[in-house]
Amino acid sequence: MTATDSNSIHARIAALATEAEQCTRCGLVKTRNKFVFGEGNPVTPMVFVGEGPGETEDQTGRPFVGRAGLLLDECMREVKITRKHVYVCNVVRCRACVMDGGRLKNRPPTTDEAGACEPWLRRTLEIIKPLVIVCLGGPSASTLIHSDFKITRERGHFYETVYGPIAMATWHPSYVIRQEGAAFAQVRAQLVADIDAARRKVIELRKAAG
Ligand code: URA
Repeated sequence: MTATDSNSIHARIAALATEAEQCTRCGLVKTRNKFVFGEGNPVTPMVFVGEGPGETEDQTGRPFVGRAGLLLDECMREVKITRKHVYVCNVVRCRACVMDGGRLKNRPPTTDEAGACEPWLRRTLEIIKPLVIVCLGGPSASTLIHSDFKITRERGHFYETVYGPIAMATWHPSYVIRQEGAAFAQVRAQLVADIDAARRKVIELRKAAG
């Protein structure tokens, strides 16, 4: 890739992010503080896609910066990947929340909200053109891989998708955090192994492409 190509990808992602900040495609616009477009290196073969921003992400405008994000960074580091190597974003770009006991609590985004946000995801991936997409959790995999994706049965496998040549799903880091003791150690190790498998898949695809 030439420096001009790389600059063009950075510029197109920045322009898309600026356009997205004005988004009113669904009701989440009413409660969001920040549109959490995504961040990292858009000139990358690997994109991580989560479900949607939580409170910390909504406040900062950055994806995966809360507890789940810290675990994701830690697991990536174990296979020598940092955010400088990859791009990180979400299926839904604004925090989905509900008022509970006088304060806003995170909730899963609805199918309609995911549908409304789909053009931002599709256009992000069209610019980056990753070789491998890593879906973090079942909802991301249901959007990007197939609609009745079962994370317990199908995680760690590689699928062809319309969004990029290859996608795989692994545990959402928030799910890993909720486990205790031996279960925590087991699913955390699986998350690391899946990220490493995605890294090795990139190497394999690059070799095959010559
Ligand atoms: N969970 C997600 O799915 N995305 C984030 O950005 C943070 C937590």
